[in-house]
Amino acid sequence: MNEHDSESIAGLLEYMNYVYSEDPKDADVVVMNTCSIRENADKRFFGVLGQFKKKKRENREFIICVCGCMPQQTHIVEKIKKQFSWVDIIFGTQNIGQFPELLERRLKTGKKQYDIIANNPDLEESKIKPKRLYKHKAFVNIVFGCNNFCTYCVVPYTRGREKSRELEKIISEIKYLAKDGVKEVMLLGQNVDSYKDIKENDFADLLQAVNDVKGIERIRFMTSHPKDISDKMIDCFASCHKLCKSIHLPIQSGSDTILKRMNRHYDSSKYLKIIEKLRKTAPDIAISTDIIVGFPGETEDDFQKTLDIVEKVRYDSAFTFIYSPRKGTPAAKFTDRISEDVIRERFNRLIESVNRISLEKNQKYLGKEYDIIVEGLSKNDESRYAGRTDDFKLVNFTSDKSLNEIKGETVKVLITDCKTFSLEGKAV
Ligand code: 5AD
Ligand code: SF4
Repeated sequence: MNEHDSESIAGLLEYMNYVYSEDPKDADVVVMNTCSIRENADKRFFGVLGQFKKKKRENREFIICVCGCMPQQTHIVEKIKKQFSWVDIIFGTQNIGQFPELLERRLKTGKKQYDIIANNPDLEESKIKPKRLYKHKAFVNIVFGCNNFCTYCVVPYTRGREKSRELEKIISEIKYLAKDGVKEVMLLGQNVDSYKDIKENDFADLLQAVNDVKGIERIRFMTSHPKDISDKMIDCFASCHKLCKSIHLPIQSGSDTILKRMNRHYDSSKYLKIIEKLRKTAPDIAISTDIIVGFPGETEDDFQKTLDIVEKVRYDSAFTFIYSPRKGTPAAKFTDRISEDVIRERFNRLIESVNRISLEKNQKYLGKEYDIIVEGLSKNDESRYAGRTDDFKLVNFTSDKSLNEIKGETVKVLITDCKTFSLEGKAV
């Protein structure tokens, strides 16, 4: 979602005739779009912000803007005011559209422009198109904000109350994108399963409607919540042929006691039933998850339950996080914190399981051919290309064609090797 916000901000700047600069050192304006989900994101932000002080001293006309989740928290804005007073513009997650106005006002008056809205009831539909990261794929917001208040999570405080966009508006955006060469859409929401628009359309209705848009070949979404995912939505994996056979379904913990303390509103048996239904509907579906280690009060027995569920579900991949207390969230006040040594040791055990299973699961792709939509050059080896399968596996492959010929195109690739986080192959 932050990446998509960055695309929108880049679109606004382009509209104002700014051009993109590869290196912040050459830029006249820098926009730092921030994340606040864990403490290391905060630390990185302040580290990078500090580095701009010198440039500001050398050039008073250099403009520094901060936006995203961090300035949605009062204590962060206070810290910026006190320790990073050279920041020119601050805006939040819910008034991105105001950025051009703030920038113009800063340029005209020379005065700082700090404007953050806590809970914007009328998030406007911007007429300015985002500057997309990829030509062939696009992010599309479907639900803003979150009402779930998982006790560890800062998002409901930084992105405000949940609000679904109208189905018609989403579909008209996707039709425009399809005409503009987009083949793949990623529908975005903190909890896509609670999508409900003013006409009572739910997430499954929306998927059916996106499935009918001409030119779109692949539909993905992010993120599902086990408490809200419906049978009607799961059936879409059978009835919507463009819906990619993959799902990201965060479990967070395998222990029912911890899930309760996290305010997740499901238990491990409900979660496993969902996995069973998903696999019955789409037998080869790739399943990924998020897991937090070291939530306050987590015992060895609780952690063992997380390992058990990892072994039962056999995830294609899992994002594993060390619990990070976030100011203002209920869990930050829990006193039964787990020691760093214990967390580290559990975290290593979890990664060992998750990675072993990922590698085992990747074996099934060996020797088979898959349709890959090409995204660009491979990150670690520029003599190869990278793309994704329908079920979101990253494939690095060789081809005789040039990047221009195949970028954004669908290519058949034979898988010749597999690693923990990717597959390798050659175009056929
Ligand atoms: N500490 C650790 N991980 C967190 N996440 C969210 N908040 C925290 C936190 N305070 C993780 C959850 C979520 C993912 C996006 O980030 O697993 O699903
Ligand atoms: Fe955070 Fe929970 Fe909302 Fe996800 S569902 S954004 S974890 S509060």
